[in-house]
Amino acid sequence: MPTDGGERVPEQAVEAGGGARCTVHVARVGREWDAASAEALSPAEQQRAARYRDDRARAQFVTGAILLRHAAGAALGVPADGVAVDRTCDRCGKQHGRPRLPGTGLEASVSHSGGLVLVAVSTGPAVGVDVEEVALRPGLDPLALAARTCSQDERRHISDVRGFVTYWTRKEAVLKATGEGLRVPLTDVVVTPPHEPAGLVAWRGRLRPECRMLDLDVGAHHVAALALLTQEPVAVLVDRPD
Ligand SMILES: CC(C)(COP(=O)(O)OP(=O)(O)OC[C@H]1O[C@@H](n2cnc3c(N)ncnc32)[C@H](O)[C@@H]1OP(=O)(O)O)[C@@H](O)C(=O)NCCC(=O)NCCS
Ligand SMILES: [Zn+2]
Repeated sequence: MPTDGGERVPEQAVEAGGGARCTVHVARVGREWDAASAEALSPAEQQRAARYRDDRARAQFVTGAILLRHAAGAALGVPADGVAVDRTCDRCGKQHGRPRLPGTGLEASVSHSGGLVLVAVSTGPAVGVDVEEVALRPGLDPLALAARTCSQDERRHISDVRGFVTYWTRKEAVLKATGEGLRVPLTDVVVTPPHEPAGLVAWRGRLRPECRMLDLDVGAHHVAALALLTQEPVAVLVDRPD
């Protein structure tokens, strides 16, 4: 991924493994890509971008769309503008669904929150990535936030907002990898507690489902998690801006 100076940030190996590979690209909204012009987007993306009323939300979408094409192009060894992205929603057919890279064998996931955008591209296993900004507003009660997303047992492990957000990102990463998103209650996804490494404990009553998870270090103000629907080792690389 090019950065401001056009240099490539060294990739950081998070988990060594053979076979499949997943690269997570991290970008700041409006820094790396603020020069992104409309012609970098497909017609469908331009239409979507034009519909956002909120400038930040539009910038997040545009950053993610361009970063996704660069990430897939890098994985395939083709120019970014040669990558086609299909976002057909499996519910209504509009271009606002899970991103797919038809005919490439790659799986992808996009997430944005506050000033950060993450794009994960995997060479096989379905992937889900989720990033959330940790809002440390005084008076925010993490247990109240967790009431509808975490089980009673999970809530015992939440002592601050960051703990709640850690649960949220782990659960949402799994539901983005399955493609169901928030149609499924987050309480249906049982993940490891915040003080333990990320992992999927149970899914639809099944213990230890086939899923590898990682927490991603994206700085003090955000929490992020990655889910890959496989039991096989996956080499995960994180490509961050300086
Ligand atoms: C997908 C979802 C979990 C995203 O949650 P979020 O915290 O608001 O947003 P994030 O930034 O983490 O992720 C947004 C990205 O998720 C991706 N996405 C959308 N639907 C998805 C799905 N079903 N599965 C996986 N990823 C999906 C898109 O790439 C989107 O990025 P974009 O808006 O730039 O195109 C949530 O919006 C959701 O559950 N959507 C599906 C709801 C649905 O089915 N609606 C039917 C509409 S007809
Ligand atoms: Zn839809």
